[in-house]
This record gives sequence, structure tokens and C-alpha cells, in this order.
Amino acid sequence: RPAPMIAPSILSADFANLADEIAKVGPSDVDPGVDWVHVDVMDNHFVPNLTLGLPVVESLLKATDIPLDCHLMITDPGRWAPAYAEAGAYNVSFHAEATDDPISVARDIRAAGGKAGLGIKPGTALAPYLDILSEFDTLLIMSVEPGFGGQKFMPEVLDKVRELRTKIDAEQLKLIVEIDGGIATDTIEQAAEAGVDCFVAGSAVYGGDDPAARVASLRALATA
Ligand code: DX5
Ligand code: ZN
Repeated sequence: RPAPMIAPSILSADFANLADEIAKVGPSDVDPGVDWVHVDVMDNHFVPNLTLGLPVVESLLKATDIPLDCHLMITDPGRWAPAYAEAGAYNVSFHAEATDDPISVARDIRAAGGKAGLGIKPGTALAPYLDILSEFDTLLIMSVEPGFGGQKFMPEVLDKVRELRTKIDAEQLKLIVEIDGGIATDTIEQAAEAGVDCFVAGSAVYGGDDPAARVASLRALATA
């Protein structure tokens, strides 16, 4: 499998200095930097928290060359998701629980030039989506209840990761398995073993000094 991808979540960064916070994990003389920057969009309806929306994402796109991975925790994703792709977000994930028609949302994102991702909450089964995986570029397995950073990792969701990995490998699907929630130095290895490709980490990256060093530690553990 390709090298693991690391996507720091700016949810745990300083919201008054987002461009600087992203630059801290960006390319440098000694490090190629992170693969994606994960941007959590929350609308206070789908989840009980409010973060940022399209205008901030548009500004972030001007502030960095790192691909943005927008995680839409919003109701009515069909109304909003394509605009993020149109603006230039690399990957746009929306939640399975928020729509009756994930296929058309995914197709609209792709038509707008983005990669399409399907987010699955910890209690949501994977089975209904196994036959439509070709509609997506990423599958975002939530390993906490969406809404807040700094929560405890739920290892039981790794069963879904293993099921996905088996199907992807058997059918040679082009689908990135992403995990989000509670990923840190003490949890990333079990997620890597289960078959995750891309690791989102918020508090583990931005919760202390030297985010770049923290990314390097996570990458080393995911690669081992
Ligand atoms: C939570 C968000 C996550 C959050 C993860 O709803 O989707 O991306 O930033 O934070 P940590 O890594 O601290 O669990
Ligand atoms: Zn997220």
C-alpha cells in the first residue's frame, strides 16, 4: 500500500491565525509537510457545534497550496457541498446520515471538480454503502461522535475499516480509507493495522508545541 497520509485538523488550531497554523505543518527545508489539511465545517444542526463555512475555506485556499480536505458536518449537503469543490477544495466529504441521496451529492461534487467523500458516524453501518463505493474517492470513518475535538478513540469502528480494506483490496477499488477522531500516538498504530490510508488528527497535532514534530511522530507510527 502507498505511504500513510496525515491530515491535521485545524479544529484544534488557533482560529485567529489559521494561515500561520497551517504553515506550521506545511513543507519546510527538512520535511515535505502534510498530505492534506482537514477542515471541519459544522453548522450547529447536524452537530451541536459551529465552526466555519465557505468564506473561510475560500480564504484558506488562497493562504496555502496544501490540498484542503473539507469535512462537512452539515444538514442538506446537496445544497452546499458542490460549492466547496467549485471553490477549489481537493476533497469534500459529507455525511451519509445527512442525505437520502448520497450518489447525487457525490456526483455533483465530482462534476464541480472535487474528490467526493462519504462520512460515516460511529453508529452507522457500512453495509448500505458497500455497493456504491465507486461513487466516492474517500470513505471517512468517524472514530468519535462528530462535533468536537479531543474525544476518546472508539476502537470498535475498526471493524468497518477492516471490512472496507478487504473489499477494496479484493476488488482493487480506488478508495482512500480515512479515519477521524481520537487519532494520537497511542491509537494510530491499531488504525494503521486495520487498513486506514489517511489519518486525521486534531488535538494530537495542534494540542501542544511543535505541530510538525507531532505530525512526524504520527507518520512514523503509521508507517511502522
Ligand atoms: C470532530 C472532527 C475531527 C476533529 C478530530 O467532529 O471531525 O476532525 O478535529 O479531533 P481529534 O483528533 O482531537 O479527535
Ligand atoms: Zn473531521
